[in-house]
Amino acid sequence: MAQATDTSSGTTRRDFLMLTTGAAGAIGVGALLIPLVSQLAPDAQTVAAGAPMDVDLAPIAEGQAIKLFWRGKLIFVRHRTAKEIEEARAVAVASLPDPEADQARVKEGKEAFLVVYGNCTHLGCVPLGNAPGESKGDYDGWFCPCHGSHYDSSGRIRKGPAPKNLPVPPYAFTADTKIKIG
Ligand code: FES
Repeated sequence: MAQATDTSSGTTRRDFLMLTTGAAGAIGVGALLIPLVSQLAPDAQTVAAGAPMDVDLAPIAEGQAIKLFWRGKLIFVRHRTAKEIEEARAVAVASLPDPEADQARVKEGKEAFLVVYGNCTHLGCVPLGNAPGESKGDYDGWFCPCHGSHYDSSGRIRKGPAPKNLPVPPYAFTADTKIKIG
């Protein structure tokens, strides 16, 4: 009889302990979820540090380029002329120091817009070729006066000590003349 009472009382105690542990576990998971969810929403500092950035291309006239910063890095966005696109596509890709087709560096159907990082791949100077009247080098792109690197109208290195093309950052068109970088 006493044994039955003990067993019954033991079971109840065990159940209580298990329920308590389960509740504590549930609270623990809940407590973990709240900071996790709040971590998913970028704060202002994160946005400033590198959240995706929307850029309106409409104000960039054909033949013009703009400079902007994303994740602390300089980026050029150029609205290319038909002549510049034609020049970029006329070259034999295999003959380039860093062979890359123009088609692989722009978005299909949006080849008028070229988006590239804006630091020379030699030692990081900022090439000329964005402002009116600035030298665009020998290939209608950009000219780096630091040591004489010439980039073409696709941002590819054509002449000089720079080893690589100006890289293309991650971006996508979100509307006819709008892109999101990042
Ligand atoms: S940094 Fe541009 S050519 Fe040297």
